[in-house]
Amino acid sequence: MDQIVQQIAAYRQEIESLEIGSPQQLEEYRIKFLGTKGIVKALFGEMRNVPNEQKKAFGQVLNEFKQFAEAKYEGAKEVADNGPQAADDIDLSLPGDPLVAGSRHPINLVRKRIIDIFHRLGFAVADGPEVEDDWHNFTALNLPEHHPARDMQDTFYISQNPDWLLRTHTSNVQTREMEKGQLPIRIICPGRVYRNETISARAHCFFHQVEGLYIDEHVSFADLKQTLYFFVQELFGKDVKVRFRPSYFPFTEPSAEMDISCLICGGKGCRVCKHSGWVEILGCGMVHPRVLENCGIDANKYTGYAFGMGIERITMLQYGINDLRLFSENDLRFLKQFTGAV
Ligand code: PHE
Repeated sequence: MDQIVQQIAAYRQEIESLEIGSPQQLEEYRIKFLGTKGIVKALFGEMRNVPNEQKKAFGQVLNEFKQFAEAKYEGAKEVADNGPQAADDIDLSLPGDPLVAGSRHPINLVRKRIIDIFHRLGFAVADGPEVEDDWHNFTALNLPEHHPARDMQDTFYISQNPDWLLRTHTSNVQTREMEKGQLPIRIICPGRVYRNETISARAHCFFHQVEGLYIDEHVSFADLKQTLYFFVQELFGKDVKVRFRPSYFPFTEPSAEMDISCLICGGKGCRVCKHSGWVEILGCGMVHPRVLENCGIDANKYTGYAFGMGIERITMLQYGINDLRLFSENDLRFLKQFTGAV
């Protein structure tokens, strides 16, 4: 009997190390161990050769082994029925599921490029509300009520509360940052702004801006020029030329507008630059001392510069887009042209 018990132990080991990976192997296993002419049956047949006093113990060993062999079968069958497909069922020649990658909106693409450049110069991104009160959008910025310069930005007011409006520029974020009183300040403010313009190829009732503000001791107009010059060279390439023209903004003094040499004709003159060779891309200037005081900053100690640009305008120049309305029409024929641009 000892011999048979040893034999059973060997079978056990065999079953344990057996890997059943296909329905075919499963069936082979069943026939070998559990079939009518299988090993389990044969072992039960040995019962009659075992002496009577050992029959009970032997029966126990046999039953345990039978259960073990059956459990292996059930486990492997379950995997075969529900588990992953057997390797030879997979057709590797079938085409894969296509991975549809979207693309960024061109306005987002250019906004990201602008932010990246200023990031490298140490500017942090600041954010603020699109529905703003009069103080943060106008009055604090040296644009009191009835100031004629308010006409430069035709504004949507909220009729239920005329103190609220849709911000006309992201300078409201600058006001809010200055009021926090944590100096120095070096921020850029990207965001959507609203103006009551008639919609055309060149104007829309909403558009996007990036404005910048740097306030510290001894900040000068030279710093402003140098920063903006670096910026346009990074964005448009080293060959681009710039010029500053005196201008007027109530919140900066002196104020200027910055032009770059036309990217389309290289400065020779074309329709885009109206045959002047130059295109205007941003407004800028030294923060007016009254604005600093309005926001609680000591104008005798601190100076600063600010600038603001429209993202649509720069995107149109970079990609040769001739109609502003394309940005918000969501026409896939337009948007798909930016596929792959990340
Ligand atoms: N806020 C101005 C505008 O939207 C742009 C600007 C910002 C000009 C800062 C000068 C300085 O028109």
